[in-house]
Amino acid sequence: MLARLLFLAILVSALGGRAGAAQDQNSCLICHSEIKVEYLESVHTDLGVTCIECHGGDSTTLEMQQAHALEAFFRGVPHRTEIPELCASCHSDPVKMKPYGLRTDQYAEYQTSQHGKLLAQGDTRVAVCTDCHRAHRILPAWEPRSSTHPENISETCAQCHAQRDQGVHSAALAQGNTKAPTCASCHGAHGAAPPGVEDISKVCGTCHIAERAHFTASPHKKLMDEQRLSECVSCHSSHTIEPTGHNLFDRVCVNCHVLGSHAQLVGQKIKTLLAAADESLREAAQLLEQAQQKAVDVSSYRSRLIEARSYFLQALPAQHSLDIAHIEELARRAKSIADDVRGSLHSLQGVFAIRLLGLTLVWVFLFLLVIVISLVLRERRGERL
Ligand code: HEC
Ligand code: HEC
Ligand code: HEC
Ligand code: HEC
Ligand code: HEC
Ligand code: HEC
Ligand code: HEC
Ligand code: HEC
Ligand code: HEC
Repeated sequence: MLARLLFLAILVSALGGRAGAAQDQNSCLICHSEIKVEYLESVHTDLGVTCIECHGGDSTTLEMQQAHALEAFFRGVPHRTEIPELCASCHSDPVKMKPYGLRTDQYAEYQTSQHGKLLAQGDTRVAVCTDCHRAHRILPAWEPRSSTHPENISETCAQCHAQRDQGVHSAALAQGNTKAPTCASCHGAHGAAPPGVEDISKVCGTCHIAERAHFTASPHKKLMDEQRLSECVSCHSSHTIEPTGHNLFDRVCVNCHVLGSHAQLVGQKIKTLLAAADESLREAAQLLEQAQQKAVDVSSYRSRLIEARSYFLQALPAQHSLDIAHIEELARRAKSIADDVRGSLHSLQGVFAIRLLGLTLVWVFLFLLVIVISLVLRERRGERL
């Protein structure tokens, strides 16, 4: 017994490091060294959320039977159906959470989610707190190694959902665009559910504000109110959203509008208007780049192009209004300014070409002159001899 205590004392003093005073007395860590490694990294470690808070038992003894004794309220591994309540025993308690400024509604929200509802019916395949947060290496979401960090969430969900966002948003996330939505931005972390028909626009609209405002003013709003069209997803899908320039007009409008109908033609008109403006803008930008390389002062052209682009950027969301006159007005302004800039840069290029030709001619002339003069000089030298 004495030898054992000595052994314990040596081991405990060897723990050191991040293990604070509370952990020094924690005999659970000595036998469960794998869990110790994870646990010491977690946010709970420094807060006295020790093994026995979740598992019960006696953490002052190295005697396994005693440590795991039922009299010491050892509960073993909590059953999946008990985990949310276990975490909630602290996380739903405003008194315990107040010092940390943490919200206390995760459990309440969880119970409203499909995960929570099915768990209440005894379906243990669904996600419980520890599937998303892990049991021992729990880290806050801002920590890059956390299973709930925006870059890791899709993997966390993918433990169970084959579904992956393969659209423009996950591409943006992969490029480090932290403004792009993760699974949890659209579904909620704790209220995970497919947004209802009437909620989808609210979700997309939290980021795409202008698109939503224009959509709400369109003839399609009525359809949405009648729940015959889900605001954004019916045209864009939810997980395979493509970037612009993929001719959505050719694909989605004909799902509901006959080819050649007024509505279908409106779509084609909008597409043509936007494509033309886009092309002018691109070409003007390219010419600007070239002129700049020739050390021309292009600042006035640049500011005009910025103006043109701002009209175009208004036209993009405005296409959702289907108000052809308004869209045409914006697209036309963008295109005419861009065309103007393009024209000026073109004639500037013409001037350049002429100057270059003139310069070349001068050089050729000078070169010939030098040759003639040297020939004449040589002839004279010959005459003198
Ligand atoms: C002397 C070493 C020792 C100590 C001290 C010890 N354990 Fe264990 N523990 C074990 C071993 C070995 C197992 C695996 C064998 C088993 O399931 O009984 C185990 C299993 C467990 C399990 C899984 C039980 C299950 O039903 O699968 C939990 C949970 C656990 N220990 C928690 C604790 C906690 C909490 C403490 C501290 C209060 C602690 N242990 C202290 C050695 C120890
Ligand atoms: C915040 C609550 C919490 C704390 C603190 C905690 N555990 Fe656990 N532990 C759990 C839950 C929940 C499970 C169930 C398994 C799962 O969901 O991953 C578990 C599972 C286990 C298991 C069995 C499964 C496995 O992963 O091997 C052991 C052993 C264990 N814990 C030991 C410990 C020890 C030792 C400590 C202290 C270092 C500790 N736990 C701290 C909640 C906790
Ligand atoms: C004994 C009380 C207690 C229990 C039980 C508990 N926690 Fe905690 N938890 C805390 C405290 C206190 C914090 C401190 C937060 C801080 O420092 O920001 C915390 C922090 C967290 C955080 C980080 C929050 C953040 O963003 O800063 C997560 C995530 C978390 N706990 C999840 C869980 C999960 C999942 C369980 C169940 C397996 C659980 N907790 C069980 C007390 C507890
Ligand atoms: C389906 C995955 C999932 C489940 C299940 C889940 N969480 Fe979370 N949780 C997250 C994500 C993702 C975040 C961080 C981002 C966010 O808050 O949107 C988070 C954040 C948290 C935070 C940090 C504070 C906050 O609200 O921002 C706490 C605490 C927390 N969860 C506790 C819990 C508890 C307790 C449970 C079980 C009742 C639980 N979580 C279940 C995914 C989940
Ligand atoms: C441990 C496995 C597991 C994890 C992890 C998990 N889920 Fe689930 N989820 C399920 C199961 C099982 C269902 C129920 C599926 C069914 O009803 O067919 C479900 C249901 C859902 C539903 C409702 C689907 C419907 O048709 O009603 C959504 C939305 C969802 N999960 C999103 C998420 C998100 C987002 C994450 C990550 C933050 C996540 N889940 C993590 C297992 C998981
Ligand atoms: C931009 C918002 C958005 C993002 C990001 C997103 N979803 Fe969805 N998800 C939706 C919408 C909207 C629906 C409603 C179903 C539909 O009409 O396509 C849905 C439906 C679902 C469903 C249930 C219906 C089905 O198709 O089975 C699951 C499960 C799901 N999403 C999981 C995920 C997971 C996992 C991720 C991350 C990899 C994710 N979602 C990312 C918006 C999003
Ligand atoms: C009736 C079909 C339809 C609906 C409904 C719809 N869109 Fe669009 N959306 C389009 C088309 C068509 C484009 C142009 C795509 C292209 O040029 O390839 C587009 C382009 C976009 C763009 C990229 C251009 C820009 O504005 O920057 C975004 C973002 C967008 N939509 C968001 C939304 C949101 C958010 C909703 C819901 C409020 C929504 N859309 C509803 C058809 C639709
Ligand atoms: C959390 C904010 C957020 C939410 C919610 C969101 N998006 Fe996005 N969306 C973005 C960001 C950021 C981009 C990337 C812009 C970029 O890369 O230029 C983007 C890009 C897009 C694009 C492509 C735009 C382009 O110019 O190519 C479309 C279309 C789009 N989102 C539609 C949707 C739809 C539909 C929903 C709802 C189901 C939605 N978004 C929800 C932030 C969000
Ligand atoms: C989910 C089916 C659906 C899709 C997809 C759809 N529409 Fe419609 N749209 C309708 C219905 C139904 C109406 C009639 C609304 C009413 O009751 O007034 C309508 C009305 C219109 C109108 C006004 C009436 C008219 O004939 O001029 C225009 C314009 C229009 N849609 C253009 C488009 C364009 C462009 C697209 C593709 C970007 C598109 N719609 C995609 C169903 C759809």
